[in-house]
Amino acid sequence: MRRYKVSIIGAGMVGSTTAQCIVQKDLADVILLDKKEEVAKGKALDIWEASPLNGFQGVIKGTTDYTLTAYSDIAVITAGVPRKPGMTREELLGINGDIVVSVAKEIIKHSPEAIIIVVTNPVDALTYAACKALDLPRTRIMGMSGMLDSSRLRSFIAMELGISPQNVTAMVIGAHTEKYMMPLLRLANINGVPVSKLLQKDKLEEIAKRTRLAGAEIVSLLQVGSAYYAPAMAIAEMVEAILRDERVIMPCSVCLEGEYGLNDCALCVPVILGKEGVEKIIELDLTPEEMKQMQEGAKAIKEMIGCMKI
Ligand code: NAI
Ligand code: 2OP
Repeated sequence: MRRYKVSIIGAGMVGSTTAQCIVQKDLADVILLDKKEEVAKGKALDIWEASPLNGFQGVIKGTTDYTLTAYSDIAVITAGVPRKPGMTREELLGINGDIVVSVAKEIIKHSPEAIIIVVTNPVDALTYAACKALDLPRTRIMGMSGMLDSSRLRSFIAMELGISPQNVTAMVIGAHTEKYMMPLLRLANINGVPVSKLLQKDKLEEIAKRTRLAGAEIVSLLQVGSAYYAPAMAIAEMVEAILRDERVIMPCSVCLEGEYGLNDCALCVPVILGKEGVEKIIELDLTPEEMKQMQEGAKAIKEMIGCMKI
């Protein structure tokens, strides 16, 4: 059977850790591409040297050469610059917008059938930018945000209740920004028991706030760079769902065409992920207050998009 191929553009902290997660799950051969050749080669070699220990059966290569990415099934874009302390994701827009659009064009030139996962921030605006610049079906371009934000929310609920995070079902939708991220605690549950029956309102509000600020919490602790372990696992889960045609429901940033009454922007909503990419967008029955938050999030993303040359 043909092995799958995943290209990761950007061999920094998120890209290289994602490569490691994919290799550890033996999901696919991996091309790790960066503008810094030694970094890409060094990280790929380091990951490869663990293959006798983790049972990886494939190939991992570091490069600056896009021809090596040819016929990738999935391309993950992590190229760009991460946030520094005190810097918002929005401020990254100018620098990272140009990088993501040019990288996405290179990918499609060599892998016309690839599914693209955008990770670089601000992820919702850049997912939309990649969609428009490539003119591909929106099923094939998605942003990673909700899987990370939801994992953070689930981990904080588990921490508070002293239970296994795997027992916690909870989802974050909306924009991947501190202000417009929407931890849906109303729907969160522990094996069917609503979290609102187990935790006081003020505790739930505290957890929602910590989730919205979780990226900044890591940035301020690390002092250099931003989170990468949890983001990489979240990306690898999406890659696995697509390659294995799992058709699982995951919150992903996608270009909206009327869903939730929204257009001309990308926002995180639950989708079914399978071999075609975003196979279906699920429209949750949101409260009027939640719908208003979605609209405000969409407005903020559109303002960012308006600042870009696309
Ligand atoms: P990093 O600085 O460690 O890695 C970025 C890499 O991109 C560097 O190795 C750099 O050389 C490379 N690069 C820059 N321009 C390039 C180009 N034109 N072509 C090829 N490679 C290029 O940063 P890190 O921590 O890996 O984060 C990457 C991005 O992912 C940032 O924008 C960060 O904000 C974002 N991020 C998004 C998350 C999400 O939930 N959507 C989660 C975590 C990070
Ligand atoms: C995060 O939420 C940096 O967006 C990234 O950690």
